[in-house]
Amino acid sequence: MSCFLIEGRRRLEGSLRVQGAKNSALPILAAAAATGRPCLIHNCPVISDIQAAIGILRAIGCEVRTSGGDVYIDSSTINSSDIPDRLMREMRSSIIFLGALLTRTGEASFTAPGGCDIGLRPFDLHLLSLKKLGVAVEQRRGRIHCSCPGRVRPAQIALSFPSVGATENIILSSVRAAGTTTVINAAREPEIADLAGFLNACGARITGAGSGTVTIEGVERLRSAEYTVMPDRIAACTYMAAAAVTGGNLILEDVIPAHLSTVITSFEQAGCRIDHTRRRLRLLAPERPESMETIRTMPYPGFPTDCQPVLTAVACVCRGTTFIKENIFENRFRYIGELNRMGADIVVNGTAAAVRGVERLHSATVSATDLRAGAALVVAGLCAEGTTAVERIGYIDRGYESLEKKLASIGASIKRTDNYENFKSGTSGKTDSGKESQI
Ligand code: UD1
Repeated sequence: MSCFLIEGRRRLEGSLRVQGAKNSALPILAAAAATGRPCLIHNCPVISDIQAAIGILRAIGCEVRTSGGDVYIDSSTINSSDIPDRLMREMRSSIIFLGALLTRTGEASFTAPGGCDIGLRPFDLHLLSLKKLGVAVEQRRGRIHCSCPGRVRPAQIALSFPSVGATENIILSSVRAAGTTTVINAAREPEIADLAGFLNACGARITGAGSGTVTIEGVERLRSAEYTVMPDRIAACTYMAAAAVTGGNLILEDVIPAHLSTVITSFEQAGCRIDHTRRRLRLLAPERPESMETIRTMPYPGFPTDCQPVLTAVACVCRGTTFIKENIFENRFRYIGELNRMGADIVVNGTAAAVRGVERLHSATVSATDLRAGAALVVAGLCAEGTTAVERIGYIDRGYESLEKKLASIGASIKRTDNYENFKSGTSGKTDSGKESQI
């Protein structure tokens, strides 16, 4: 079983390039399937969730070629509207293929999506919205079948919650509708604007993406496009947290600080000095961070739920107590027990946590419970005394491109090992820090 071995208490210093955004690249790859034309997407992160998306594209008949972060997709060869169960279960965002397939083939069939276990994660808003667009939704033998022969019917859809995935599915399914669709209370995440940026490059007519009202004027057809995915704000925040807990001095290149406003505020409260230009950010951390004002996760532009675990890891070693309130996912504190095993002092009450900072964490063998929880354990390991082992790093590989290599390049002592049993029993084991997922 692979794990990360982290020898903590090394100061991180240097500069890093931030990967392309996972949560943009996934809907953009799905959107490429909606075009029916060849598309070339640059800056896709080299992570296993992107591999899973490529698996779905190939399963429905697309030709896909990859080279590093470049993904070429020709969807003119699509011959299936069924997303195989195995691929659907691998990743929740596979539900984004629903809208793309409806636009391209007029139908889509799938099982309930899988993904990180951070809450119930229903998809009722996706299906209700599609029904408003005239899509027939039926459940047969554990699978959901959606169909809409011809073009979807334009509609005005007011979401009861600004769901990111539902907003993306409405955009993807109405991009070729016979008229204009409006989404009210749309998610305002930057990834929505990036998806619209790609679709508009393909000839779509989408306005307001990134604001609470998105208007999609249906077009007859889409064309080929080449597009570069925006930088990943969650990965950027993770590296900032790693620097903050190690008294570090970090420069992030290829980052959009404007996407990180609320996160930057929390780091500044912790005593970090942050300077930034439009695409570059520098964080200079104090020797020991100060406690932060209550962190309340909210839809964008509020504090992102995906940044909550790594900021909790920072709060563990702050001088004073930080309160965290998780408002998006009901089961997002499963990693807290692992942090407490490293000497953290965190009390959870439902979806709220009180994190009393301790002077020092200590090493332990801990296990990732989901993608961002895994990142939080790595951040904790970086400042803990001794060698921390983080298990179940497959979760981390879903969203972080070469995490251990990037951290090692700025001074961390972190290795991926496949001989973890040897480490546990005290015999020397070969480590493999060069292992990297390939697309
Ligand atoms: C996306 C992100 C994820 C992030 C989340 C919130 C991707 C691939 N994933 O997930 O990393 O944590 O946004 O910023 O972009 N909900 C419903 N019914 C629905 C859909 C959602 O009740 O049909 C609820 C969810 O249970 C959750 C909340 O709405 O409580 C937010 O979910 P949503 O914005 O849809 O998140 P995802 O698109 O799944």
